[in-house]
Amino acid sequence: MVQTLTAVIRANCVLAGWRLFFLALPMLAGPASAVAQGGNAVIMPDLGALQSRMAVRPDTFTVIEPHLSLNEQQTKIDYVGYPAARVFDVLLGPGWKEIEADIEFRALDGYVSRIEIARFRQYPAYLVFAIKGQTAFTVDNLRQNQKNVPLGPYYLIWDNLHSPELIGQEAADWPYQISQIAISTARKEALLPGGLARQYVEHAGLAQKHCLTCHRVNGYGGDKWPIDLAVRAKAMKEDAFLQWVLNPSAQKPGTTMPPLLVSHPDSERHAAARKIYRYFLALPAQKNPKR
Ligand code: HEC
Repeated sequence: MVQTLTAVIRANCVLAGWRLFFLALPMLAGPASAVAQGGNAVIMPDLGALQSRMAVRPDTFTVIEPHLSLNEQQTKIDYVGYPAARVFDVLLGPGWKEIEADIEFRALDGYVSRIEIARFRQYPAYLVFAIKGQTAFTVDNLRQNQKNVPLGPYYLIWDNLHSPELIGQEAADWPYQISQIAISTARKEALLPGGLARQYVEHAGLAQKHCLTCHRVNGYGGDKWPIDLAVRAKAMKEDAFLQWVLNPSAQKPGTTMPPLLVSHPDSERHAAARKIYRYFLALPAQKNPKR
C-alpha cells in the first residue's frame, strides 16, 4: 500500500510539472486570472499534507466514469481517495454542510465548477487522487476530443453505481485538476441581477451549468476561455450562436468546447440553446464587472 501510494505521488508530481507548463501558456495569453472570487478559497494541500490531516485512510471507490461513458456504453473505474464530505470537514470546517451556497471548484486551467451544497447532503461524493493499480491518473474526455487528460491533483466523483439517477450527470459535476475550493454565494447576484424577470431562472440555470464553467458573465464564471457571454452573445445573430453551441467543432475543428447536451434529443438541445441565447440577450452586461 505504502509503495503504491509513493508511486502514485511520484507519478502525480511528474504530471503536475507538465500540466503547469502547458496550462501556463493559455493563461498568459488571455485576461484569465487564477484569483478566486470571494476571498475564502482554500488551496488544495498536496497529497502528503492532505493524508496527514485526514483521520481516515484512503479507500477505493468504483464509479461509472462519465467521461468514458458516452451513449449506452458504461465504463467502470476504481478510484482511490476520500469521501468528499470528510475532506470538506477538514479544509472548510465542519459547518460547511449547513450553508445554502455552492462549493466552487477551481481547476489548474481556470475551469470553475460550482455545485450546490445541498447535492452533497443528498449524494455521496469522493475526492480522489489515483486510479487503483495504475500510476497514470488520467482519463480520455470523449466529449472534448481530449485524450489522457490529467485528473490530478484531485478529481471529484459521485457514487453513480449505487445512485443510478446520477448517471446522466453533466461533466460540470465531475470537475478534475481541482486546485482550489471555496464556499461561494456569488451565483445568484451575478446571474439574476435585480430587475431581470423571474422568467429567466431556468435560462440562467442552463447557462450556469453548461457555459459558465468556462466562460463568464458580469465577472462571474470560469476562466478557461474568459469571454463575457452577456457581451459576446449580443454581438451574434441567433443562428450563428446556435451553430457554435450545438456543434462547436464544425465552427472550429479540434476545439475543446463541448457540444451542448450532446446525448439528448435534437429538439431539447435546440430549445436549451435558444433559452440560453435569450437569457444572454436579456442579461444587462456590466461595463466593468468586479472580478
Ligand atoms: C469546457 C469549456 C467550455 C464550455 C462548457 C463552453 N465553452 Fe464556449 N468555448 C470554449 C473554448 C475553449 C472556446 C474557444 C474556441 C476555441 O478556440 O477552441 C469557446 C468559444 C465559444 C464561442 C465563440 C467565441 C468567439 O469569440 O467567437 C462562443 C459564442 C461560446 N464559446 C459560447 C458558449 C456557450 C453559449 C456555452 C454554453 C452553452 C459554452 N460556450 C460552453 C470552451 C467552452
